[in-house]
Amino acid sequence: METQLTGPWRIAPDVVLVPVIEPAAAGYAHVNSMVITGREPVIVDTGAAEHRERWTEDVFSVVEPRDVRWIFLSHDDPDHAGNLEVALEMCPDATLVTGSPPRPGRGFVPPPGRTRRIADDESFDAGDRRLTAVRPPLYDAPATRGLYDDRSGVYWAADCFGAGTPVATADAGDLPMEDYLEAVRAFGAGLSPWHRWLDPRIFGRHVDRLAAMEIIAIASAHGPTATGDRVARVIGAVRGLAGRSDPG
Ligand SMILES: [Fe+2]
Ligand SMILES: [Fe+2]
Repeated sequence: METQLTGPWRIAPDVVLVPVIEPAAAGYAHVNSMVITGREPVIVDTGAAEHRERWTEDVFSVVEPRDVRWIFLSHDDPDHAGNLEVALEMCPDATLVTGSPPRPGRGFVPPPGRTRRIADDESFDAGDRRLTAVRPPLYDAPATRGLYDDRSGVYWAADCFGAGTPVATADAGDLPMEDYLEAVRAFGAGLSPWHRWLDPRIFGRHVDRLAAMEIIAIASAHGPTATGDRVARVIGAVRGLAGRSDPG
């Protein structure tokens, strides 16, 4: 199978996607993270523990651990928080920003004095940019927050906009448009089964919020990154999921 874009990829001047793409039952599965390399560098999600060696190598080829000021955790699932402790240890000046409360038995203990809770729609200042927590329309943990960077226009969608890919690539532009959109629909339908019960008008408001933002790229933990005209098209694909399946 042809291998395409699989290493750290600068998707905007100060934003680097850190992909981990592995063969799956059908095609390839993604467990991605991201680094914002601005004045106050931010690690966005920390991947899975099983990828620790590669993850630390790739992330810290992009940013020096001592320079990292923020670690944004979209939610505390192990494929996002898997290297959180290591990252906090390696980056002594980083503050953890997350909407996820500590949950007993999850192994996720926000370090005292180094954690800032963030509500949906709340922003924080990262030196040369304002980062805003924007909950994606589809998620598998209610405390999930995506992250919008107003300077680059990149939106980190956490689990939303995931998609299995027939080739190992981090760039949705390598896939035919319709194949990509259908893969996003299929992933989203499995991710948030409750989308079936949602009133399309209510669900639509969450999608409208994204559609109204100036987004140049949507990066997902579990799929290739959408840029260019794929941004609006993939938001439209997710919008179409509301009410698509029968309740029950
Ligand atoms: Fe998740
Ligand atoms: Fe995930």
